Amino acid sequence: MDLKAQIQRDKLPQHVAVIMDGNGRWAAQRNRPRVFGHRHGVQAVRAVTEAAAELGIPYLTLYAFSTENWKRPRTEVNALMSLLVETIRKEVKELNKNDIKLKAIGDLQKLPEKSHKALIEGIRNTANNKRMTLTLALNYSGRWDILQAAKNICRKASLNKNAETPHDPCEELSEEDFRQALCTRDLPEPELLIRTSGEMRISNFLLWEMAYTELYFSKVFWPDFSKEEFYKAILDFQQRERRFGGLSPTNS
Ligand code: IPE
Ligand code: IPE
Ligand code: MG
Repeated sequence: MDLKAQIQRDKLPQHVAVIMDGNGRWAAQRNRPRVFGHRHGVQAVRAVTEAAAELGIPYLTLYAFSTENWKRPRTEVNALMSLLVETIRKEVKELNKNDIKLKAIGDLQKLPEKSHKALIEGIRNTANNKRMTLTLALNYSGRWDILQAAKNICRKASLNKNAETPHDPCEELSEEDFRQALCTRDLPEPELLIRTSGEMRISNFLLWEMAYTELYFSKVFWPDFSKEEFYKAILDFQQRERRFGGLSPTNS
């Protein structure tokens, strides 16, 4: 059965977000160290990026390292950070060939210097690409972003306090103003979230942005997640009825 051919090209999600989970368990099943799973996870990143770009999905966001992942053993954190540098350096050529722009969200200043540098270079070297935006969430958490947005809004408001303005900046703050203060301001809201490995939770991913996102959970561990698995998620999404709090057209 050709899954790709069944996908309706006029009903694609414009932004797919992915929680890439299960690398450690994939490795454990093979009696190998967790890092072995992370290394194999890179293949799945490549497959999903390619599949999304080929379909014509304009935004793909991958959760690569959460604010909470610093709690892991130092050796694992270091291995993940080195893998990041290595992968970005290796993949820039392919990203350019496929016209894919790299972006990152999260508290990037706190990444190790080498990782930060590789990331900034990757972003700079792919900045003119147009087909798809691939965003890596690194040292990212939804609560961190909401908090940093609130802090920036407060800072601005206190700077304006002494200015001669008749308006109350707090009263005037809109959802759109708040959205503009988030690090995801340049991305449309995700329409589909995929989480692999059978876990059914959000784990502090795009909290503000996922208010109306369709959720898809796959039992497959991330290193085994293939283009076919990605197509299954898209097909499932295309069966959903999105109401955004309104009524189904059959009821109205
Ligand atoms: C996801 O796989 C990768 C990262 C969080 C960086 P895990 O490392 O969480 O793998 P499991 O969930 O322990 O199997
Ligand atoms: C979420 O996976 C974070 C990433 C995939 C980067 P985790 O494995 O860290 O999440 P929990 O601990 O199972 O909630
Ligand atoms: Mg996990």
